[in-house]
Amino acid sequence: MTQSNRIKRIGILTGGGDCPGLNAVIRAVTKAALVDHDLEVFGVEDGFLGLIENHIHALTFSSVSNILDRGGTILGTSNKANPSKYCTSHDGKGHPIFEDVSELVVNNARAAGLDVLVCIGGDGTMSAASGVIKRGLPVIGVPKTIDNDLMHTDVTFGFDTAVTTATDSLDKIRTTASSHHRVMLVEMMGRNAGWITLHAGAASGADIILIPEIEYDLDKVCDTCLKRSRSGKAYTLIAIAEGARPRGGEVVVDHVVHESPDPIRLGGVSEVLCGEISEQTGLEGRATILGHVQRGGTPTARDRVLATQFGHRAVQLIDNREFNQMVCMQNGRMESIPISEVADQQRLVTIDHPLLQACRAIGVSFGD
Ligand code: F6P
Repeated sequence: MTQSNRIKRIGILTGGGDCPGLNAVIRAVTKAALVDHDLEVFGVEDGFLGLIENHIHALTFSSVSNILDRGGTILGTSNKANPSKYCTSHDGKGHPIFEDVSELVVNNARAAGLDVLVCIGGDGTMSAASGVIKRGLPVIGVPKTIDNDLMHTDVTFGFDTAVTTATDSLDKIRTTASSHHRVMLVEMMGRNAGWITLHAGAASGADIILIPEIEYDLDKVCDTCLKRSRSGKAYTLIAIAEGARPRGGEVVVDHVVHESPDPIRLGGVSEVLCGEISEQTGLEGRATILGHVQRGGTPTARDRVLATQFGHRAVQLIDNREFNQMVCMQNGRMESIPISEVADQQRLVTIDHPLLQACRAIGVSFGD
């Protein structure tokens, strides 16, 4: 490497929905860059918004001290600031007008002296990064999301914490379900992927698990609840994903964020299904939507470890000048994959997934 093209300064941003473990990655990248590689590190505030509006600041040892176990992100984030589709204004009817501001982002990054950008995010952030890469700014991706739905990585950090939180909630709801002899539905996040629900449902021994990848049959769900009740079981615990839908039916949309490139926000299917089960079976039901509690709080030990490994690997990739790659975990090994292969894709639960098969084998119903 010649002196002139030596990497001297890196930027870090966190994009999309937050998740536990983001700070652990920021800490690992910053420390590895400062200690091992004599690089300067700058934090970009609120995802790509910080490069659109020029909000960046230097990160030092003291800025990343004592953040390993802290939820959220010290840099802030945004899920509306995708430079390739950024809402710059609204028309007369209040509809958003989107523009591609990737060029501006790259110019601002260069003006700030950033030689490479570490983008910690999900499929949307990797897609946003692709536009920046095309304009010549090198990027390293780090996969985050509680949904665990990124392609080409066995796991994303944040997922383990979300599953732990959801499992804890399911365990708590089981006791009240038992006292009141109710059908209890617990709705989990995940967009169109059922990973959180499958894992938390399995961990808490849910009787019925409903995920987006398997459309449910209302009659079969009701039948399972009735059979359990008639056989003397005190209650039925249903783990349901926000993206679950009935056979031939639609997902339940909670609201639309018009300024977001990915505007649909799911939520409420558990309440709809709860009403239908109660009406059809006469059993008393209650629905609980866990919501953003799954995204908050202290990362589990497993997520802290994964985040630290991902952060370290990101700096290794920079050192090796292996740009425009996303760090990933494949078969237990730290690897990397071109960001272009990950952007705008979702990894879903497959019907033959071993955990799904194991649940079926022990009598869990998937409503099909
Ligand atoms: O992708 C993470 C996630 O928490 C999804 O599970 C959920 O559908 C969505 O983000 C919620 O987004 P918001 O924070 O914008 O409501």
